[in-house]
Amino acid sequence: MYTVHTISQASAFLDSARARGQQVGFVPTMGFLHAGHQSLMRRAVSECDVVVATIFVNPLQFAPNEDLAAYPRDFGADSELAAEAGVSILLAPSIDEMYPDAVVTSVRVSGLSDGLESGARPTHFEGVATVVAKLFNVVGPCRAYFGEKDYQQLAVIRRMVSDLSFNIQVVGCPIVREVDGLAMSSRNTYLEAPDREAATCLRRALDAGMALLDAGERSVVAIEAAMSAVVEAEALATLDYVAVRHADTLQTIAQVEGDARLLVAAKVGPSRLIDNCAFSGK
Ligand code: PAF
Repeated sequence: MYTVHTISQASAFLDSARARGQQVGFVPTMGFLHAGHQSLMRRAVSECDVVVATIFVNPLQFAPNEDLAAYPRDFGADSELAAEAGVSILLAPSIDEMYPDAVVTSVRVSGLSDGLESGARPTHFEGVATVVAKLFNVVGPCRAYFGEKDYQQLAVIRRMVSDLSFNIQVVGCPIVREVDGLAMSSRNTYLEAPDREAATCLRRALDAGMALLDAGERSVVAIEAAMSAVVEAEALATLDYVAVRHADTLQTIAQVEGDARLLVAAKVGPSRLIDNCAFSGK
């Protein structure tokens, strides 16, 4: 694996790959990689000739009260995991390299960037869309891989790609879970027992919602109430939201009539955690 820290080094490598007719796949990350990231990388490796991963903890997507400085970092371990997954080139630019001047341009995907995660993080998706648009221009991939764990982020990026005509296929990849069902996340590293055990309440809330749906319940109010009850019964968790939404638009719905997405967010110990799952209405 070729590791670089400047955009010009990455561009030289990728320009010559494209000139040879190779297809470039892209996995953007903020580092502190785990099996979830590796699943994106392995999928990209199986579908593309050359795979670029980036590690960049993007300050634009953190509010001043969030964990930017404390966000976990381990470049040595990340390099090993990326190489093991078959990544061809790892780009880890500095903040100065990415944002040499004050950033006065931003990308905002209205509608999809509102509600859910934006309740707690109002500027988050603008920061994500802006850095992803920039990284798309830097890397020039034909396919880009994102985890479904950040489901609203995936919807925002799909819409940005469509609205701004990026010639990139966005590939959403399934959530990778720990054996007890906790969705893998770099923020799980902050969890110590007993918070780690309490964190399974997110998965259990989704299971409760799915059980009602499987039993024929279609009222969103009823399903959300059952999901909330699971998180609220967990003394170490503070519920942020549960939601049952239209699977593609993330619009609110009163009844589940087709494909839907169940989403949950809660604070457990020092970590704010999110999870979601799909209900197929077919
Ligand atoms: O999902 C993430 O890790 C980040 O939001 C992303 C897409 C790398 C943008 O900084």
